[in-house]
Amino acid sequence: MVKKAQSPVGDLTLSEASAELAALAAEIARHDRAYHEQDAPLIPDAEYDELRQRNEAIEARFPELIRGDSPSRRVGSGPAEKFGKVRHAVPMLSLSNAFSEEDARDFVGRIRRFLDLPVDEEVAVTAEPKIDGLSMSLRYENRKLVQAATRGDGYEGENVTANIMTIHDAPKRLDGSAPQLIEIRGEIYMSHKDFAALNARQIAAGEKVFANPRNAAAGSLRQLDAAITAARPLRFFAYAWGEAPELPAKTQMGVIEAFASWGLPTNPLTRLCHSVEELLAQYRLIESERAELGYDIDGVVYKVNRLDWQQRLGFVSRSPRWGLAHKFSAEKAATVLEKIDIQVGRTGALTPVARLKPVTVGGVVVTNATLHNEDEIARKDIREGDTVIVQRAGDVIPQILGFVPEKRPRDAKPYRFPQQCPVCHSHAVREERTAGKVDAVRRCTGGLICAAQRVERLKHFASRNAFDIEGLGDRIIGEFYAGGLIAWPHDVFTLEERDKASPNRLKDREGWGEASVGKLFAAIDERRSIGLDRFIFALGIRHVGETTARALARAYGTADHFRGQMIAAGAIEGDAWGGLNAIDGIGGVVAEAVVQFFAEPHNREVVDELLKHVTVTALEARSTTSPVAGKTVVFTGALERMTREEAKAMAERLGAKVAGSVSKKTDLLVVGPGAGSKLKDAEKHGVEVIDEATWFERVGGL
Ligand code: IVH
Repeated sequence: MVKKAQSPVGDLTLSEASAELAALAAEIARHDRAYHEQDAPLIPDAEYDELRQRNEAIEARFPELIRGDSPSRRVGSGPAEKFGKVRHAVPMLSLSNAFSEEDARDFVGRIRRFLDLPVDEEVAVTAEPKIDGLSMSLRYENRKLVQAATRGDGYEGENVTANIMTIHDAPKRLDGSAPQLIEIRGEIYMSHKDFAALNARQIAAGEKVFANPRNAAAGSLRQLDAAITAARPLRFFAYAWGEAPELPAKTQMGVIEAFASWGLPTNPLTRLCHSVEELLAQYRLIESERAELGYDIDGVVYKVNRLDWQQRLGFVSRSPRWGLAHKFSAEKAATVLEKIDIQVGRTGALTPVARLKPVTVGGVVVTNATLHNEDEIARKDIREGDTVIVQRAGDVIPQILGFVPEKRPRDAKPYRFPQQCPVCHSHAVREERTAGKVDAVRRCTGGLICAAQRVERLKHFASRNAFDIEGLGDRIIGEFYAGGLIAWPHDVFTLEERDKASPNRLKDREGWGEASVGKLFAAIDERRSIGLDRFIFALGIRHVGETTARALARAYGTADHFRGQMIAAGAIEGDAWGGLNAIDGIGGVVAEAVVQFFAEPHNREVVDELLKHVTVTALEARSTTSPVAGKTVVFTGALERMTREEAKAMAERLGAKVAGSVSKKTDLLVVGPGAGSKLKDAEKHGVEVIDEATWFERVGGL
């Protein structure tokens, strides 16, 4: 029982706090079930409230220990699953970040190169505050607000229409000049004044205090009861759009001005700048006004003004080439480094993590910071017990800049980086890179005998961009691994069957019930069929990220073929090895890593066992409707309407593969004036040849 022998929250150690939070989560869940499902409370309300208060007090002191199943998350901020899902017609992607003026200059330079603009051509760019809130998509049909959705994972968000209807800043109707259909994108935020008033009310009512306006806005928006959202003043700025068959202007600035004329709130600090210097001047101006704005901003957003250029620039993975978030520089604070912990990652990397005395840096409580690697600790001579300077920039993991010499304890000893894995005690080594250079990272050599590596691999396996099994997050994987339920990836797919036969059913465990177990099994079943690209990515092979996995999937087509070829490539010579190295985007390091992975019998076993339970489908072309989807295209000669880089990006967006040379596998050669040997090669292999104009005709307005 948790209630007995309570020590004051201030005296709890990290591990005591963690254990108590786990016990409280289970106990409160038990009472919730008794109360709500069985209508039979086990304890008086006052005692129940005490449990919840204790839970909140511990969480307030150790925010890093807040559990996914914490009672404070379950009530108050309503679980996400309760809202319906909305698939975004146009994905809600994010901006890449920059932290220096040089990055901002590079941004404009990159645009010039990509579009191949003459030096005297002006690149006009808008600059506006980056609001620190939550992005929102508002759909207007016949000028009426019909749906509001959060960003979610960018492709699917939550339907929060009822809540948004209570927000005055989100007009229910647009002015008569607005088009029939438009999705307005922007940011929901809370002003400093409203945030302070809300927290004062929360304290008076004995309710949860929010850490910052962004959290308060998120918590308020996620209320299942729209009346609660209505009582919490949220605001909105419109700055972009999603589905929009007719736009009111040909420029970013023009569209934003039209938004304002339709009655949408737009940010008054939005400016059109005609040079990098003007852009940076606007950045400095916005930064100088930051403290007086009355709401949180964390940088300045730049956007290319001409929409035809935005269209041509397109996206690189999840961010537009035409936009940039220039963040304000980081905020710093001093605190005590209590301990250096070593974490073991999926590939065995030992990463030192600084455990800090909690300190507020730029409005956020920081308790952990990265120390990168052993050389970094040695170079900065950071020691346990030191007072250190912590810096936090945007969403990145806080960093330690250095220590304060005057505050170093007399007995502080230089930190000795472990030479053994702290989890499995195998040797930890730094691999030799090229000629005498060793890797900065020390790695555990235990491979799959190391429990830490196995757990991390399992987490990766189930993660969003891999198998994406809902409900099988990092914490649950950790618990299942520790409880012996899941040791290998394929165990995920036999879980239900084994559970049925087990005397100790999952549904009877603390924190679980019939419904949540059923949901988990359904989520697992949904993933018994998976694309080859995700399958390869999920294996967690070193150096194989999503893009590489996609390239491999595209090259090999089926799981069996991929597996066979990778084993054959282990000879480090011959066709299979040559084929692997010939794939666009696969270099020597990656090829070696993949081959090494398959040379390891344990890994082959993992793949083989998995293949008994899942059906691997071919990779879906990114666009199946385009006439060039799945085709291999080569561009040559001087293209006139687009740069080579742009051509490649466009072809890939349409689902084609772009190769550098013509072979019998090439489907299409696009030629500009001055084409040479490639044209001859195409004739030799009977490859179709078209000019740039025909290319545009063929791909139409896509
Ligand atoms: S434009 C393709 N403009 O920052 C993305 N975003 O990483 C277009 N944000 O998720 C976004 N202020 O939530 C844009 N003035 C602004 C913004 C802004 C804040 C947020 C937004 C987005 C994130 C970008």
